[in-house]
Amino acid sequence: LLRALAVQDLAGQVVLVTAGPTREPIDPARFLSNRSSGKMGYALARTAFRRGARVILVSGPTTLDGPPGVQRIDVTTAQQMYDAVMAHYREATVIIKAAAVADFRSREESTEKIKKDQASLVLHLQQNPDILKELGARCDHDRQLLVGFAAESARFAEEGRKKLHNKQCDLIAVNDIGSERTGFASDANRLLVLDNRGYMAELPYVSKERCADLLWDHIVANNFLRS
Ligand code: CTP
Ligand code: CA
Repeated sequence: LLRALAVQDLAGQVVLVTAGPTREPIDPARFLSNRSSGKMGYALARTAFRRGARVILVSGPTTLDGPPGVQRIDVTTAQQMYDAVMAHYREATVIIKAAAVADFRSREESTEKIKKDQASLVLHLQQNPDILKELGARCDHDRQLLVGFAAESARFAEEGRKKLHNKQCDLIAVNDIGSERTGFASDANRLLVLDNRGYMAELPYVSKERCADLLWDHIVANNFLRS
């Protein structure tokens, strides 16, 4: 019903969204992860479907319900998210990487529980593949719009611009994770959107659902859609 009432300005688009954290196993009892709730990514998936897109949501572990009408692919680790994204990105006309991918994983996963019979413990971590950077290199920028996120706590525009260029994104949405009002667990957010034309837009502080709609409005109004 909501879809019937909404403007179908994403009709014909295939949107691939990644959302949530990833979990990197350490032993049978433990994992490494981060504070992402998945709310921003799910809001982007839900609003894209409402506006007429076909939506594929690659999701790390969250407590959220899959938005109706959206094809959800559940993953746990960064490597699994990488594999799922690489299997599906060719279908997409818009790719949005809202997931908070764990930057590191344990170098070896212990099949046995690590015991505490030691006063200190060293965990060796190894860097995970950068999914967004790989997409920046691989995707067809004439046919596909690549939107990254950046989680920052300082120098927002500067750090965002660096990531936009390093990862060859078309747009990057910078999230302030240093503030309690925005970022991970919060229900509201404020995005700073930078693009490869050199422009910067500050979206207002609103609910994540509204924030997602404002990002779509920005993409549509500034003619970033490829078809
Ligand atoms: N990202 C990714 N794969 C990773 C790490 C990050 O695809 N292994 C993506 C995120 O989904 C996000 C963007 O890259 O869209 C920026 O993530 P962020 O954590 O802000 O930046 P990093 O490049 O990981 O750098 P750092 O954490 O050191 O700031
Ligand atoms: Ca990171």
